[in-house]
Amino acid sequence: MPIKYGVPSDPDYNERLREFEARIARGEKIEPGDWMPEEYRRQLIRMISQHAHSEVVGMLPEGAWITRAPTLKRKMILVAKVQDEAGHGQYLYHAAETLGISREAMLEALLSGKAKYSSIFNYPTLTWADIGTIGWLVDGAAIKNQTMLAQCSYGPYSRAMVRICAEETFHHKQGKEMVLLYAKGTPKQRQMAQDAINRWWWPALMMMGPHDKDSPNTEILVRWGIKTKTNDQVRQEFINEHAPEILEAGLSIPDPELRYDEQTGNWRHGPINWDEFWQVVSGNGPMNKERLEARRRAHAEGAWVREALEAYAAKKQKAALAV
Ligand code: ACO
Repeated sequence: MPIKYGVPSDPDYNERLREFEARIARGEKIEPGDWMPEEYRRQLIRMISQHAHSEVVGMLPEGAWITRAPTLKRKMILVAKVQDEAGHGQYLYHAAETLGISREAMLEALLSGKAKYSSIFNYPTLTWADIGTIGWLVDGAAIKNQTMLAQCSYGPYSRAMVRICAEETFHHKQGKEMVLLYAKGTPKQRQMAQDAINRWWWPALMMMGPHDKDSPNTEILVRWGIKTKTNDQVRQEFINEHAPEILEAGLSIPDPELRYDEQTGNWRHGPINWDEFWQVVSGNGPMNKERLEARRRAHAEGAWVREALEAYAAKKQKAALAV
């Protein structure tokens, strides 16, 4: 069934919009064949494709450590985790395709440098403790954001999120277990864990996006149930869970202004360096160039696989038509 996108010039637009918003208010999911405002479709393609790119680019910082994992068990966990991220990218590209954009167009946007993907993956993984810290903090931040998205109004995105969150929960647990172990380990292990927390704390807070007042998309996304919480709300939930856990482990947090506010029950943080955030988002982070180069190389080197799959599918189709 063709997807019906609503444009404001349609004489029935206002009526359709009212019904669309009433469905969302009733908690119904919007499905690919349903009428939707063009802006709803555009916002979803923007967000889901950026999310898919983040999963795929996110394989790189951790993938770099597979050959250097300290034990076979850690290596197996890391291989499984990186493979999960590829699967997440796959579900998300599929979810975006239901909105009428092709996989090729999304990949072209990524490889040409036009598309955004999460700022967090433009930081380097310098030591093995970074792998644990990514699991604990980065996947911890991703889960806070994605359990919210599992409730979102667009059916294919919300269903993809349910499975992704289950897998991210495993990623989070293995990372936390690893950092807590190093926090109780030798002075060198402790120092490595602390150094990783120091470098990943602020980028993890930036992951949730700019403050609400500087977030142009939040208003419409919340109105249409794509986001059910704002960037600052999700960030606060992340800090409230992770700050006490890090401190309890005997590690410190690189924010001299961080304090628990008894009145609100929230952990208050100091100012976030938004200049750094926007530099990273606009392509000038520590690893942006390397990440894109790695993706372009992988795409070029994988051309023969795509060709082989297409040839095989054509052969199978010909055989099926012959009977
Ligand atoms: N990294 C890169 N770009 C970002 C980030 C970030 N951490 N946060 C915000 N931006 C971009 C937005 O994409 C937007 O750009 P655009 O309008 O050109 O597309 C701009 O900054 C302004 O931000 P917002 O208006 O706040 O954007 P939005 O309302 O979409 O909120 C958020 C940003 C929270 C990341 C949202 O898009 C989202 O929930 N996305 C889905 C989840 C996701 O992509 N997670 C990535 C990590 S996945 C992982 O860890 C494996």
